[in-house]
Amino acid sequence: MQSINNAGTFPLGTREVKRLGYGAMQLAGPGVFGPPKDRAAAIAVLRAAVDSGVNHIDTSDFYGPHITNQVIKEALHPYRDGLVIVTKVGAVRGPDASWTPAFSETALKDAVHDNLRNLGLDVLDVVNLRAMFSVHGPQEGSLEAPLTVLAELQHQGLIRHIGLSNVTARQVQDGRTVCPIVCVQNMYNLANRADEALLMQLAGEGTAYVPFFPLGGFTPLQSDALSEVATALGATPMQVALAWLLQRAPNVLLIPGTSSVAHLQQNLAAANLQLPPDAVARLDGLGAVAPAAPH
Ligand SMILES: NC(=O)c1ccc[n+]([C@@H]2O[C@H](COP(=O)([O-])OP(=O)(O)OC[C@H]3O[C@@H](n4cnc5c(N)ncnc54)[C@H](OP(=O)(O)O)[C@@H]3O)[C@@H](O)[C@H]2O)c1
Repeated sequence: MQSINNAGTFPLGTREVKRLGYGAMQLAGPGVFGPPKDRAAAIAVLRAAVDSGVNHIDTSDFYGPHITNQVIKEALHPYRDGLVIVTKVGAVRGPDASWTPAFSETALKDAVHDNLRNLGLDVLDVVNLRAMFSVHGPQEGSLEAPLTVLAELQHQGLIRHIGLSNVTARQVQDGRTVCPIVCVQNMYNLANRADEALLMQLAGEGTAYVPFFPLGGFTPLQSDALSEVATALGATPMQVALAWLLQRAPNVLLIPGTSSVAHLQQNLAAANLQLPPDAVARLDGLGAVAPAAPH
């Protein structure tokens, strides 16, 4: 039977979510700024996702800004029981669409209240703190002060669970001394596996790992080997890329982004794609990470 249930579930905080979810970033305008070019189409994608069984949606109030959350509310509120909406804080957008770190106590509290208002919620299921020491990838630096602010909001009942994004293994370890960390959202896909060690560590610990840019993000994945494997299996390259992530480790939760119902349905159908061992071996060979130098 064709169903996203075939990909199974994994705990996200105290909820069990389907491993195939949906990332809402593509629902803002170009450059993740301003309104979608077709608001009705954006609403249709969100409704199609939950109608297909998706119960994990990833978003942020800095998509738009504010607009993506407002579209989610318009499309899906009142929310179905069991739908987990994960948001992130730690940046604000400038009028020129720039991304500016926003880690002060006031900025974080404002961000949480903005998310609550724009999503129409009394409590946020999961809030990821998005580290901004470097916009382009994890970089060491203390997250103690901003995590302490989020932990206080958690104690006040405004946040159920806290996660981290764009972080190092050290930041996850240190973060756990401030509050429980239920998920890590870092860049990882078939071609970019710099985060392999952290993914496997979190798999061993039973913590959800949510790869962002699972399809390559702004430069979607392209490779002859990926296309050949897809053709041989009667699937699309994007379905193969998602199926590869699903088989990588059981704690991987997928949030592929799309502005198209057709692409959404293709992506969700990846739950039914079993990759044979020779396909996995070939795909494993793409983008493999060089072993760490001894030190
Ligand atoms: N924590 C962070 O710092 C961070 C950063 C980036 C993203 N995220 C989260 O991760 C989610 C996923 O990332 P993403 O949306 O940027 O990148 P992605 O999922 O890797 O790829 C999205 C791109 O792939 C295209 N696409 C999707 N499905 C396709 C299909 N079946 N066939 C062909 N093309 C397809 C989309 O275009 P169409 O719209 O035309 O389908 C879009 O251009 C986001 O929605 C967001 O929630 C988090």
